[in-house]
Amino acid sequence: MLAGKKILLAVCGSIAAYKTAFFVRLLVKEGAEVKVIMTESAKDFITPLTLATLSKNPVYSEYFDKQSGEWHNHVELGMWADLMLIAPLSANTLGKMANGICDNLLLATYLSAKCPVMVAPAMDLDMYQHPTTQDNLKKLQSFGNEVIEARDGELASGLSGQGRMAEPEELLEIVKKKFANSEVLKGKKVLITSGPTFEAIDPVRFIGNHSSGKMGTAIAKAFQEVGAEVIMVSGPATNFPSSGEIVKVNSAEEMLLETQKRHSKADIVVFSAAVSDYRPKNPAKEKIKKKEDSLQVELIKNPDIAADLGKKKKNQFHIGFALETNNEEINAKEKLKKKNFDLIVLNSLNDNGAGFQKDTNKVTFFDKNNNEHKFELKSKAEVARDIVDYVIKNLK
Ligand code: C5P
Repeated sequence: MLAGKKILLAVCGSIAAYKTAFFVRLLVKEGAEVKVIMTESAKDFITPLTLATLSKNPVYSEYFDKQSGEWHNHVELGMWADLMLIAPLSANTLGKMANGICDNLLLATYLSAKCPVMVAPAMDLDMYQHPTTQDNLKKLQSFGNEVIEARDGELASGLSGQGRMAEPEELLEIVKKKFANSEVLKGKKVLITSGPTFEAIDPVRFIGNHSSGKMGTAIAKAFQEVGAEVIMVSGPATNFPSSGEIVKVNSAEEMLLETQKRHSKADIVVFSAAVSDYRPKNPAKEKIKKKEDSLQVELIKNPDIAADLGKKKKNQFHIGFALETNNEEINAKEKLKKKNFDLIVLNSLNDNGAGFQKDTNKVTFFDKNNNEHKFELKSKAEVARDIVDYVIKNLK
């Protein structure tokens, strides 16, 4: 199952580090290639020799070998890995990761890793519950890192509660599922509309909206993490994915044209753009001068990109969004039908933490088979992962 998969295991100073010996053995047994990075304090809990022997690779903890001078390149380690798993993650390393501190090889590798990053925290009950720890974990989630929550049970301190690192067998199952999921969408083409559209009133002014492109960017990243190819057609947003093809447009008409051009080759289409419903009928050629006390701008309806492509849909899987302020469920279900979506993601501006510019979202899924799933408030990165998980389960 894990044959040939390259797993970079990063071990921090926590008593749960002893479990990594078993975990490395399980990974190697499954055919994975494993390299281990350790922090200095991790070595107080388990020896590098143990993990080097079990992983059949040298263990890295310094930037260079003091005796041979051999340089351990963190960028190369990050590029080598298909998955970086930080387990156990200590409160100290968590705090540094959440704040961009980079004072050891593990942290430098984390910052330069291009692969998905998962973390399995382990610490004492009160440390785990401390608002700082919880805030830092949320911050990692907002960066797109996956958190394998600490488990409940007996802790090394003698206390009982949440703080135990997931057991090696459980970690193995999570890693296997991650790779199994990434097989389903590998090489699939995902077309995403994102951001706002700006509709010109004159060469200087426009009608637009507050969309930042954060949700679309999170969706692009989540699909890329599972090996899909992403093409994004984006309005003038402030957020863009760092890789994949990005086609920049301004208006709804341009967005329609660029999306239409790419639709037939797409396997999955996500309509996350906040498209302006109307545009000025006759945008002025020159800047409109301030003269009268009032000014009328006649608006005409913009094309509906999702509805247009919904009619042309063949085997594509279409996902739409509904941002509502009232009658949320009814409106979302109507749009699901009218625009021929397979899935619609409803978010309400009435929910705290949901909507434009925010890093979080609270959504409900409605699909064409009348399934409904309400999610709690999550980071946009996690919402994006939920969308990807849904596609993995439901793509024929
Ligand atoms: O009708 P409403 O704008 O609420 O529909 C929202 C969904 O339709 C979103 O997925 C949005 O990206 C898409 N849409 C579109 N073209 C429009 C308006 C909305 O693709 N002109």
